[in-house]
Amino acid sequence: MHALHMTASSGEVLLESGIFRDVGTILARHFPRSRAAVITDDHVAPLYLSPLLETLSLAGIPASAHVFPAGESAKSLACLTELYGFLQENRMTRTDPVIALGGGVIGDLTGLAAATWLRGVPLVQVPTTLLAQVDASLGGKTAVDFQGVKNLIGTFYQPSLVFCDPCMLRTLSPAQWRNGLGEVVKYACIGDPDLFTLLEEAAPRGREGLMKRIDTLLLRCIEQKIRVVEQDVRDTGIRMILNFGHTLAHALEACQNFEGLSHGEAVSIGMDRTTRLSEARGLTEKGTWARLHQLLTSLCLETELPPIPSSALLSAMQMDKKHTGRVLHLIILERIGACRILDTSPSFFFDPAD
Ligand SMILES: NC(=O)c1ccc[n+]([C@@H]2O[C@H](COP(=O)([O-])OP(=O)(O)OC[C@H]3O[C@@H](n4cnc5c(N)ncnc54)[C@H](O)[C@@H]3O)[C@@H](O)[C@H]2O)c1
Ligand SMILES: [Zn+2]
Repeated sequence: MHALHMTASSGEVLLESGIFRDVGTILARHFPRSRAAVITDDHVAPLYLSPLLETLSLAGIPASAHVFPAGESAKSLACLTELYGFLQENRMTRTDPVIALGGGVIGDLTGLAAATWLRGVPLVQVPTTLLAQVDASLGGKTAVDFQGVKNLIGTFYQPSLVFCDPCMLRTLSPAQWRNGLGEVVKYACIGDPDLFTLLEEAAPRGREGLMKRIDTLLLRCIEQKIRVVEQDVRDTGIRMILNFGHTLAHALEACQNFEGLSHGEAVSIGMDRTTRLSEARGLTEKGTWARLHQLLTSLCLETELPPIPSSALLSAMQMDKKHTGRVLHLIILERIGACRILDTSPSFFFDPAD
């Protein structure tokens, strides 16, 4: 088992195939004589809720569960209120852990509830999507959406424990699998050339080829996320490198009202386009874009911009809450495995460079 300590939160990420079955025993050690609340969605519940409740029960932890309808709509104040009601009904105290069993949606919603219920109760993440295992469950960002704007209400609150079990990824749909792969390629690009090579080697053998190397793949992504977050817990500086590919991705997603491309596909297009332009402008080592483009293609990730007018993309970029003042802090690659922040403007994407 890999145990990765998150010093910023004194929490821990436990990564191992099959660790899901040991959640009860491990929680009983961390939270003796506690009861647990499990929050999940109605896609994940039929797959994993009973075995989770069983491991808790075997370890002597009484638990109750609350199931939300799957989808982004659960990240709402209405669902947060419903969740508080559930915690109150079950008389959850300050020492009782709240367990998020699901993808980033359940993780973000449950995280915000755990951060605020009784001014903070222990949060345990059991991420079940690739995106949540390498990204959303780590780093302490919690949020709900508000009036059509994503993640507008939230706080930073670190989990006490994250259980990362690669076996749970076997049930993901191909689209959800690709959604997480976009972030995996991002980590390789910005800071891990060996991970990039591993992906290049495994990608031609498809999802099974990647699953054969999944422990290493997850470990390297998680290590990197923890390393970056711990230098900038509240996201005011270096953490912005995790936004490689995201400036264009967020604009694309907004233009499609978050109903078109998945986040990972949008990030893939963002990384591809940003690197093609930065290389054309002499800011990126020659050949970097070709390698990146080849990897994204062999992972069956999207690289072509959908037909959206440039003016719509431009105004979406100007609305982005991370775009402060006139300067756009854009993450570009110097080469595979090394990135830097370029102070530019949204016109970077629209001035002809090629
Ligand atoms: N907090 C952060 O730092 C952070 C980072 C990235 C993304 N996010 C947030 O995460 C959310 C997206 O997360 P997501 O992509 O995991 O989406 P999600 O939670 O909606 O899960 C995607 C779908 O997969 C299903 N699912 C989950 N696990 C499964 C499994 N093992 N087998 C089969 N189906 C499964 C879910 O029920 C859902 O239908 C967004 O709201 C985003 O804002 C947060
Ligand atoms: Zn992302």
